[in-house]
Amino acid sequence: MPRLRLPLVLLLPVALTILLLLPSPPRLLPPPPLPCGAALSDAVEGRWVPTPSPAPPPLYSPSCPFHRNAWNCLRNGRPQLAALSWAPTRCGGAVVPRVDAAGFLAAARGRRVGFVGDSLSENLVVALLCALRSADDGARKWKRRGAWRGGYFPRGDVLIAYHRAVLLAKYTWHPVDNLEEVRKDGIKGSYRVDVDIPADDWVNITKFYDVLIFNTGHWWDTYKFPKETPLVFYKGGKLMEPPLGIHDGLKVVLRSMASYIEREVPRKTLKLWRTQSPRHFYGGEWDHNGSCVSDRLLEEHELDSWFDPRFGGVNKDARTVNSAIQEALAGTDIQLLNLTYMSEFRADAHPSIWLGKKDAVAVYGQDCMHWCLPGVPDTWVDILVAHILHYFNHGKG
Ligand SMILES: *[C@@H]1O[C@H](CO)[C@@H](O)[C@H](O)[C@H]1NC(C)=O
Ligand SMILES: *[C@@H]1O[C@H](CO)[C@@H](O)[C@H](O)[C@H]1NC(C)=O
Ligand SMILES: *[C@@H]1O[C@H](CO)[C@@H](O)[C@H](O)[C@H]1NC(C)=O
Repeated sequence: MPRLRLPLVLLLPVALTILLLLPSPPRLLPPPPLPCGAALSDAVEGRWVPTPSPAPPPLYSPSCPFHRNAWNCLRNGRPQLAALSWAPTRCGGAVVPRVDAAGFLAAARGRRVGFVGDSLSENLVVALLCALRSADDGARKWKRRGAWRGGYFPRGDVLIAYHRAVLLAKYTWHPVDNLEEVRKDGIKGSYRVDVDIPADDWVNITKFYDVLIFNTGHWWDTYKFPKETPLVFYKGGKLMEPPLGIHDGLKVVLRSMASYIEREVPRKTLKLWRTQSPRHFYGGEWDHNGSCVSDRLLEEHELDSWFDPRFGGVNKDARTVNSAIQEALAGTDIQLLNLTYMSEFRADAHPSIWLGKKDAVAVYGQDCMHWCLPGVPDTWVDILVAHILHYFNHGKG
């Protein structure tokens, strides 16, 4: 057979035609858009608006069995808070929808969600437990593996639990054993913090949960640990030298707990860290008649004067602690759930004087730190749950 020797240039149009006729390579589909509220950034860009009517019925009442008396403002006589919803800028006027409890229990079948931290995490957990119970009357209290509070939801075989670890790191009380010494310098003893050892309450649960949400911050203050009973920091079993102040101690603990989490929590577990919840004491600290008997939200332009540490106000700790958190988590795979900004507006939503105990205000002052339930933590729940659902449905979970 004569060999056909076509010049290359003649082949070119043929090749091109073939290329054009070939099915085009599969184009990468854009990821599905995140529902309103499911992006972590939805918490940090937006504003509070009146809940569009018809407002959805409340998911839980003051008789929710998971409720905690001190946050049960309605039962304690506080008039209902204004019905407000968070409208993230991204959502074009829509508000974060209330969690679909039945939908969550179905989508989260067999999963466990764990919270580790102080009472502000507990505040969030109570809101979540009460919301989910609206879809499962068979919900039961669950308190094992070191959990302080929790719920099991048979309808979806879902577990939600809170491990109380106010400093995250292990800390133990060591009284001065010589009374003479106490009289000399007034120090009654110290709390030894092992910066590299997690508290017993959660040290062994790192592989138990599918989602873990951490926080600490509200105890890192001299009103919890005054100079008569200070925190003293140990690393590798040895006293740290030079001795650390409380804020530097916080920084070291944050870094070492973040690295423990990275080491011990499986890669596929969703890891979140919630930022500080702002307090709203007006006119003084909690022990100096600070008050939050108010129906008024703060305006955007007021936020810095209330919270920016530069102005030295009584509520500056949230942003101060947040800077330390941000620094410690940079470069880790722990995502920040930034609830601070949206909460800064809500001076109207703390238990204040409605604490449910006769002498509570006289003894402890007003509570301008935790939140009434129903209230602001419901919106935290809506954003958190939307994010977790998206992770279960589309992520590695
Ligand atoms: C939280 O969001 C606010 C508002 O965008 C921002 O100013 C602040 O720096 C954020 N904090 C952290 C710790 O990311
Ligand atoms: C955690 O687990 C280790 C290893 O099994 C065990 O030695 C330790 O006692 C446990 N700690 C707690 C507080 O449960
Ligand atoms: C708080 O207010 C009461 C009543 O006005 C007053 O007697 C008391 O001294 C105040 N306490 C502080 C710490 O300012």
